[in-house]
Amino acid sequence: MGKVHICDHPLIQHKLTYIRDENTTTKDFRALVDEVATLMVYEITRDLPLQQVQVKTPVTMADCQVISGRMLGLIPILRAGLGMVDGVLKLMPAAKVGHVGLYRDPDTLQPVEYYVKLPTDVLERDLLVIDPMLATGGSANAAIDVLKRRGCSRIKLMCLIAAPEGVASVQKEHPDVDIYVAAVDDHLNDHGYIVPGLGDAGDRLYGTD
Ligand code: PRP
Ligand code: URA
Repeated sequence: MGKVHICDHPLIQHKLTYIRDENTTTKDFRALVDEVATLMVYEITRDLPLQQVQVKTPVTMADCQVISGRMLGLIPILRAGLGMVDGVLKLMPAAKVGHVGLYRDPDTLQPVEYYVKLPTDVLERDLLVIDPMLATGGSANAAIDVLKRRGCSRIKLMCLIAAPEGVASVQKEHPDVDIYVAAVDDHLNDHGYIVPGLGDAGDRLYGTD
């Protein structure tokens, strides 16, 4: 079963409080989501392999380390996942970005796919699926399905807030996928919204409703 990593650094939890606050403006919401995404990268990349290299400092030769292994691919789920991409790219600027367009049908809560565009070398990359909200888990599962159908493996999922129902669903459907999240909230309401959550992440990022 995939592990759930709670990114509980005080800076992340502090910023998440203002992300949740309904009085936070679109401008501040966007900036805070971007900042939390950057901070979460520390936890998500903790297991990256290192290799030994030597560099010449102005004083002497030094045994040092650089990141080795496969390159990273970011897979934001449109739309709301886009709000976290720049924050991740700040620390992983060489990552390529693929897009999976899904929206959740408001009546059935089932994800509807409308766009997929992936890097040509996606099979050679470690992949990070990005979406601020993991509610029923339908959208995350569908995005991971899109990747696996094309032969991808080594996938992680990054979200801001999850519902226990969404965590359980991804763990059941994709037991190989670890989940990184800033908070696991209480439950889903009758409309499939996370409680207490933050409302509709896409609408709050883009000022729509
Ligand atoms: C939201 C959110 C996730 C999905 C989560 O997207 O960004 O993609 O809902 O719900 P689930 O776990 O029950 O599938 P939405 O469908 O509102 O689309 P948007 O990002 O375009 O606003
Ligand atoms: N999508 C959101 O944006 N928010 C929720 O609480 C659930 C799904």
